Amino acid sequence: MHFPKDFIWGTATSSYQIEGETPEAGRGECIWGHFARTPGKVINGETGQVACDHYYRYKDDVALIKSLGVSAYRFSVSWPRVIPQGIGALNPAGLDFYSRLVDELLTSGITPYLTLYHWDLPWTLQEKGGWVNPDIAKWFADYTAVMTDSLGDRVKHWITINEPWCVSILSHMLGIHAPGLKDPNMAFKAAHHTHMAHAAAMGVIRQTVPDAKAGITLNVTPAYPASDDPKDAQAAAYQDGFANRWFLDPIFKGKYPADMVELYGEALNGIDLDEVSAAAAPQDFIGINYYTRSVMKWNDESPLKGESVTQTGVPHTAMGWEVYPDALESFLLRLQREYSGDLPIFITENGAAYEDPAPVNGVVEDPQRVEYYRLHLTAISNAIAQGAPVKGYFAWSLMDNYEWAEGYAKRFGLVHVDFATQQRTLKRSAIQLRDIATGVFA
Ligand code: FCB
Repeated sequence: MHFPKDFIWGTATSSYQIEGETPEAGRGECIWGHFARTPGKVINGETGQVACDHYYRYKDDVALIKSLGVSAYRFSVSWPRVIPQGIGALNPAGLDFYSRLVDELLTSGITPYLTLYHWDLPWTLQEKGGWVNPDIAKWFADYTAVMTDSLGDRVKHWITINEPWCVSILSHMLGIHAPGLKDPNMAFKAAHHTHMAHAAAMGVIRQTVPDAKAGITLNVTPAYPASDDPKDAQAAAYQDGFANRWFLDPIFKGKYPADMVELYGEALNGIDLDEVSAAAAPQDFIGINYYTRSVMKWNDESPLKGESVTQTGVPHTAMGWEVYPDALESFLLRLQREYSGDLPIFITENGAAYEDPAPVNGVVEDPQRVEYYRLHLTAISNAIAQGAPVKGYFAWSLMDNYEWAEGYAKRFGLVHVDFATQQRTLKRSAIQLRDIATGVFA
């Protein structure tokens, strides 16, 4: 693999997955706390109550990041930590926490990449409808202004929303993530409002931090047909519309894809589709999260006219996700060709969960994750060689953490966490990333 000299290497986390809920520090409740405490929603009923205790251990964790030889760290701000009710009164202790974290990063030579929304919506806003309420664009803009006012002097890289597909579809149609709804119309409203909230936040960032670099992070799951049958190709095209284009098209073209508007039909009632043009205001980069692909075959019965087919005889991660790095390489080239042109691309997440052994002699041997990273970094390097403007890579995740509906069982960390003692131990994959980032392999 070959990466440009100025390539940005980093690791990523998110607030609810690592910080701990810390009500004693004035943080308000979020939708994930409620969801996780609803029986049957999360494996073993696990919550982010303690998680990695990062709120109290952030200094050690920054030292850990530094020890990995990376120069950037992507983290998210917990909205209810800084504005406990989502709107109105601020929590000074919460703002102070992020200020101290940012200072610690900067003193350690690590550039902060701040995500404003990574899923921990204040509970009081959910009581007002959350992402389904159009007012969320204004709420989010006001929250953004609080953050740029507090950190804009030091934080110059801003990501508005992490994975609008998960915020809307996974959480309001499939019911798998908080708030756990199963209503397509609500899901498309939520998706629409992520676009509008992104647009509003971009406006605030532009005004308040003129030298900021800002953009959004989308998760992409490229869809492949299961056979040469044209019907399977159509199923893959719809799946691509559902998972990818419904978000890419507004951000880059200012409109929803026509084939999907037709397919969704009445599920789009009550949405002013044209106003999504606001989402296409210029960005400074696009963040892409990539984990796997899907393979689709036609199914007349399904609302999306397709069903996904599990591939056999090929590697899968502990999440059951197929390891398929080629889809990352070709997606990056497609993104450049069909959407983003010369706009810098950051891989804001990529990584894998595996069942890791316990630490031995101060290291966890995780050969499958080592291989997953090697294959995906090679795919990115290949895409760069063909002209894709990928400028940086953030491994998901810095450390094992609260994997949402999967609780603590699924470990994505470069660093192993013993949740009983909070002991952190490097995995072999962390050492590999350090060697790549620091040029040992260059
Ligand atoms: C992404 C999320 C991240 C993490 C990984 C595995 O969808 O953004 O928080 O859960 O998946």
